[in-house]
Amino acid sequence: MKKDPLLYQRLLANNKDWSERMRKEEPELFTELARHQSPFFLWIGCSDSRVPPNQITGTMPGDMFIHRNIANLVVHSDMNLLSVLDYGVNALGIDTIIICGHYGCGGVKAAMGPEFGGLAANWVRHIRDVIRVHGDTLRAIENEEERFDRLVELNVAEQVYDLSRTATLRDAWAAGRKITVHGWVYGLHDGLIKDLGVTRTRYEEEPGGVRMSV
Ligand code: CO
Repeated sequence: MKKDPLLYQRLLANNKDWSERMRKEEPELFTELARHQSPFFLWIGCSDSRVPPNQITGTMPGDMFIHRNIANLVVHSDMNLLSVLDYGVNALGIDTIIICGHYGCGGVKAAMGPEFGGLAANWVRHIRDVIRVHGDTLRAIENEEERFDRLVELNVAEQVYDLSRTATLRDAWAAGRKITVHGWVYGLHDGLIKDLGVTRTRYEEEPGGVRMSV
């Protein structure tokens, strides 16, 4: 798409075409979707315009409940994400959660650079925490691009871990729900998704060494 102040009109025209095509190809789709949604997946991904969840996974309207933010972060006190998670798991009954990062992520790259000002700096701070936790691993990688790629992967793994600590998932697992959380990374260069193999299927106790006995 080329820049043009009237470009938004193209979106409306595109939408008309799409709606017509869909009604022809899948006559039941809108009737069905107007009644209710029952998505199979909860997708937590980056806001990056190059990583559109439905397109890259070949899914349709109604298949995915979606939350996106810069660098696909699970922030413990983010009411937006926590509400999406709670609604997705408890109201929609979703059992498969995917956290998908992507190589070349601008948010992750910003966290590898010097501190900067502005609102986004506070958000990026969470990725700097990932760097603190995995400092030794990252410092051992000499090649900058490789280090960047590794941080993108470690960031996803950390978010999978953080999601597995939420009260929503702890409660659901305790109640016997079979919920899985997968960590994936999407390649901007080839459009392929890599499964990082960091799937979590249950709550795991943390080492109790720093707990107070009560
Ligand atoms: Co990104």
